[in-house]
Amino acid sequence: MTTPPPVLVVDFGAQYAQLIARRVREANVYSELVPHSTPVEKMLARKPAAIILSGGPSSVYADGAPQVDPALFDAGVPVFGICYGFQAMARALGGEVAHTGLREFGGTPLNIADEPGVLLRDLPADQSVWMSHGDSVSTAPPGFTVTAASPGARVAAFENTEKRLAGVQFHPEVAHTPYGQEILRRFLTGIAGVEPTWTNEEIIEEQVRAIREQVGDKQVICGLSGGVDSAVAAALVHKAVGDQLTCVFVDHGLLRAGEAEQVEKDYVAATGIKLKVVDAADRFLDALAGVTDPEQKRKIVGREFIRVFEQAAREVAAENDVEFLVQGTLYPDVVESGGGSGTANIKSHHNVGGLPEDLTFKLVEPLRTLFKDEVRAIGAALGLPDEIVWRHPFPGPGLSIRIIGEVTRDRLEVLRVADKIAREELTASGLDRRIWQFPVVLLADVRSVGVQGDGRTYGHPVVLRPVESDDAMTADWSRLPFDLLARISTRITNEVPEVNRVVLDVTSKPPGTIEWE
Ligand code: XMP
Repeated sequence: MTTPPPVLVVDFGAQYAQLIARRVREANVYSELVPHSTPVEKMLARKPAAIILSGGPSSVYADGAPQVDPALFDAGVPVFGICYGFQAMARALGGEVAHTGLREFGGTPLNIADEPGVLLRDLPADQSVWMSHGDSVSTAPPGFTVTAASPGARVAAFENTEKRLAGVQFHPEVAHTPYGQEILRRFLTGIAGVEPTWTNEEIIEEQVRAIREQVGDKQVICGLSGGVDSAVAAALVHKAVGDQLTCVFVDHGLLRAGEAEQVEKDYVAATGIKLKVVDAADRFLDALAGVTDPEQKRKIVGREFIRVFEQAAREVAAENDVEFLVQGTLYPDVVESGGGSGTANIKSHHNVGGLPEDLTFKLVEPLRTLFKDEVRAIGAALGLPDEIVWRHPFPGPGLSIRIIGEVTRDRLEVLRVADKIAREELTASGLDRRIWQFPVVLLADVRSVGVQGDGRTYGHPVVLRPVESDDAMTADWSRLPFDLLARISTRITNEVPEVNRVVLDVTSKPPGTIEWE
């Protein structure tokens, strides 16, 4: 894909860099992350529209703290320093950074100077900003105007509009800085002079053009999982090359209630995509019979999936000469972060990477530059159903790893009903978008005593595991309202005879993973 000149966000290893890149894009400006080890010439070779130095280690004086090559500031490229990046910038340009002993963490009042500059003009004179620093800039570099201070930082913001350089000690990218997004936007458009052209329409148009150029008049195949990534990737490719695309949906019988229908009916109706459905539930369930070990389950589902997909791909290829395979790889999967090198693992199940050599395709990856929230926005702009655009992440092995014990048809049916109730109630409470994922887990090998009507029961527990997260690497259990939990519990125990107990998982990740298996 060709993209506009990027705003490069230099990642100094803090968790904020990705967030900064996302915020820049929310300001309709294209941005990419680069590790701090990238040489300045290499950054400049990208012809960046601007460069943002992110937060990082707590002190520029710390052992091995990455420094900024002063050559960066001589190239005429606009630069914005944030937190650590602000201090590194101050030092590189001849200002001073001091151990003042005045550390600031969390919400901090910002006092805007009489000369507020471009970044802070007409914003409230007193406002709260999110700080996280030990050292602070004590003297701004020559030629810079100091535009704000805080109790612990005499210099909390500075700018030199002529040279198009600016910086702030606080974190404008976090929600705890109420005017942060506005300040970031002002740097981009007001100081750096970048045009805010990265809009959904622009992304779609650009992708469609790039896909047409890559694919030409060749045939394309895409595996749909029911998830948002493959759904949006396929919709983009379909918009670009229409019926040259054939989608394959392998129904492995481990999906949640209604999800196969969503793909087969609603998605097809919304897009007009040519879809080949393979009902492989029997095959998967036969292969899983008697298996209780989670990793075994994963291996079996992964192996069967490749086989079934391969067979379907061969059938499609027998009719037409298929040259390309669509994958819904996202930007966070390919980005090299400042913390280390290499690319992140892509979940093998969705990767369809294990196809035999005589069945190799060139990859079309139209989401490779996008963050998840952009993918959702594009899905919505393409008219995909809300249920697909806002679907929570769901593991490739599906419900097989949410049944603790052997996977059988009956157990799947029990779990499907319980899971459907939990989802319905969550949706009705309007909390879908606050929750990252809401696994419901059936403890199929556990029984407990209960009483219903006049009789004693000996049924299975289900576990509710609602979590909040940004990227699934860490997560916290979601404090769902008690009355919502009560409704879910009452309905499950009333409507699912096999279940007589509902429990809530109150473990964060770490130490607990999101899925139970
Ligand atoms: P855990 O359970 O490790 O999950 O906290 C992190 C995220 O990954 C998903 N997950 C999987 N996705 N194949 C997948 O495609 C898998 O085998 C798998 N296992 C876990 C999980 O749902 C969560 O979003």
